[in-house]
Amino acid sequence: MDSIIVTGGGPLRGTIPIAGAKNACLTLMPATLLSDEPLTLTNAPRLSDIRTMTQLLESLGAEVAKLSDGLVLSMSSHALNGARADYDIVRKMRASILVLGPLLARQGQAVVSLPGGCAIGARPVDLHLKAFEAMGAELDLRDGYVHAKAPSGGLKGGVVDFPFVSVGATENALMAATLAKGTTVLKNAAQEPEIVDLAQCLQAMGAQISGEGTDTIEVQGVDRLHGATHRVVTDRIELGTYMLAPLVAGGEVTCTGGKRSLLEAFCAKIEAAGAEIVETDAGLTVRRANGPIRAVDVETEPFPGFPTDLQAQMMALLCTAEGTSVLEEKIFENRFMHAPELVRMGATIEVHGGTATVTGVPKLKGAPVMATDLRASVSLILAALAAEGETRVGRVYHLDRGYEHVVAKLSGVGAQIERVKEDD
Ligand code: EPZ
Repeated sequence: MDSIIVTGGGPLRGTIPIAGAKNACLTLMPATLLSDEPLTLTNAPRLSDIRTMTQLLESLGAEVAKLSDGLVLSMSSHALNGARADYDIVRKMRASILVLGPLLARQGQAVVSLPGGCAIGARPVDLHLKAFEAMGAELDLRDGYVHAKAPSGGLKGGVVDFPFVSVGATENALMAATLAKGTTVLKNAAQEPEIVDLAQCLQAMGAQISGEGTDTIEVQGVDRLHGATHRVVTDRIELGTYMLAPLVAGGEVTCTGGKRSLLEAFCAKIEAAGAEIVETDAGLTVRRANGPIRAVDVETEPFPGFPTDLQAQMMALLCTAEGTSVLEEKIFENRFMHAPELVRMGATIEVHGGTATVTGVPKLKGAPVMATDLRASVSLILAALAAEGETRVGRVYHLDRGYEHVVAKLSGVGAQIERVKEDD
């Protein structure tokens, strides 16, 4: 098992390239199951979660070829061998549930393992299942698996009214609706850039979709989809993560490929805290405006609100801000696991339910800490960039799920960071 060692210092200077989005790629890849023609994704991120999705698709009989050092994924599912997604793969990654909609729509039936629990929350999939029922499917939960069956003649268009916003349920229903008979309307749909990216890819495959990026998406089902090539949208969470680095450690960093429109609420929040952001064709350049970072209050919300996937990283910044910040986590019920680790580094944080109160301290101190989930792991690395002395972050396999080349990207702008093998 590896650890990452960071020796605090700063300032940081230079450029960090931002990869394609994990959370877009994880829904774009299952879209290949909707057609017997090839789907090619470019600007794909090189992450362990992408390898897990590849394993899952291959277990269903799809072919996934990694080209150009993994930046291009050429996929085809002309010869699916069944429609069963096994627990052994699904337990590694919740996004595996995103094969259910495409398989049900294309094959008329599917058996998919339920994902099970997660460190950041219970994360049920009831909204996904309700959406398929609204399209006429019969669902049977048995032995830890969802057994789904479409009506004869295939799924039927219907109205899916989500009681609250779910990114995954919107993506699953959207993919299924492309091949359903008639019109499907998704109400209170998620509006994330990854949803828009999925819709654009499906449209390139011949799907008839309108309203993506709004809370109401309409889909006219078609008989079949054809092949396409699609560029994966920039990873706005990786982008936001690295935009925080020069705010924590000082200096100036340009994140290439970044666009403010992907992260407006986040950009406004860090500007309120004292950041200066300059947008050019190259990307987003970030530095402290003048003087130290100030405390701000944060509330996580579905897009276009402040992303929950940047909450942990924002907390790392606010640990040394002037004043007291209140962070409210509104999406997941257990997403403050990074707080006690930051306290080990000398932060002052009180957590009560979904609210964390962070009182800024002048400086953090390096310490051995443990990653508990993907975003928590990178928040510890951010905090360590300006901490006194050395921080050793354990269990960084969490990080590999969502960040490629962290050590190279941060050392490229002057951070003292290395990855070491630990005895198990
Ligand atoms: C996606 O998860 C992302 N994952 C998450 O990113 C992200 O945090 C989340 O959206 C919110 O933005 C991927 O895209 C692979 P939801 P998803 O369905 O689709 C509850 C990361 O760090 N809910 O929008 O699972 C759920 O428990 C990851 O990259 C139900 O109750 O999120 C949660 O509290 C972490 N029933 C809330 O809704 C359902 O059927 C929002 O979940 C579905 C969701």
